[in-house]
Amino acid sequence: MELKQMVGIEAAKYVKDGMVVGLGTGSTAKFMVDEIGRRIKEEGLSIVGVTTSKNTEKQALALGIPLKSIDEVEVVDLTIDGADEISRDFQGIKGGGAALLFEKIVATYSKECIWIVDESKMVEKLGAFALPVEVMPYGSQQLYRLFEKKGFAPSFRKNENGDTLTTDGGHYIIDLHLEVIEDPRALGTYLDQLVGVVEHGLFLDMVNKVIVGHEEGPETLNS
Ligand code: A5P
Repeated sequence: MELKQMVGIEAAKYVKDGMVVGLGTGSTAKFMVDEIGRRIKEEGLSIVGVTTSKNTEKQALALGIPLKSIDEVEVVDLTIDGADEISRDFQGIKGGGAALLFEKIVATYSKECIWIVDESKMVEKLGAFALPVEVMPYGSQQLYRLFEKKGFAPSFRKNENGDTLTTDGGHYIIDLHLEVIEDPRALGTYLDQLVGVVEHGLFLDMVNKVIVGHEEGPETLNS
């Protein structure tokens, strides 16, 4: 079994009857959503899902998972999502699938968050994976120039047609090729205060549990 599938299935075990469940985005989260769909159909599991992207919404609807929007629920009991990089101190980079804004909003209003990754995503320090920054299209070239001056090696995210990608929220993504992020907190605070930055892919102090896929089986780490 693929490692991503292994952790997707493992994480779905934490989903219990009556929960409001945040459904992440990406190739790993897709397996978890499939498994929740299977449990609904075969075990009569009763949950409400809150999706983090149009892609996940489409998948969940096709599987018959009942959905509500983030604004319709009081709180999300548990969110399960993938990640692009996770450091030893449980800080992460997300947004490789361009869904970081909705993912961060759903995670913020969740009582508990689980990230599911294959072992290649566990790193000493964050930054080898380009850090996505979601920006307003208006003024985005100014932000790009600023990032260039700062030595952040920015690039606009493109879609499959080679055009600038537009996120589900209607924004652009500028990826920062930083190689290593020595101080994720300081960088996060810097990005937070820039006008025109909607959100960034540093997910700091947000995860409670990480399930890592190894050939020998899933490993569960508690933060
Ligand atoms: C989506 O925007 C991301 O945050 C994904 O959760 C992350 O990129 C992991 O994706 P994969 O599971 O496809 O590697």
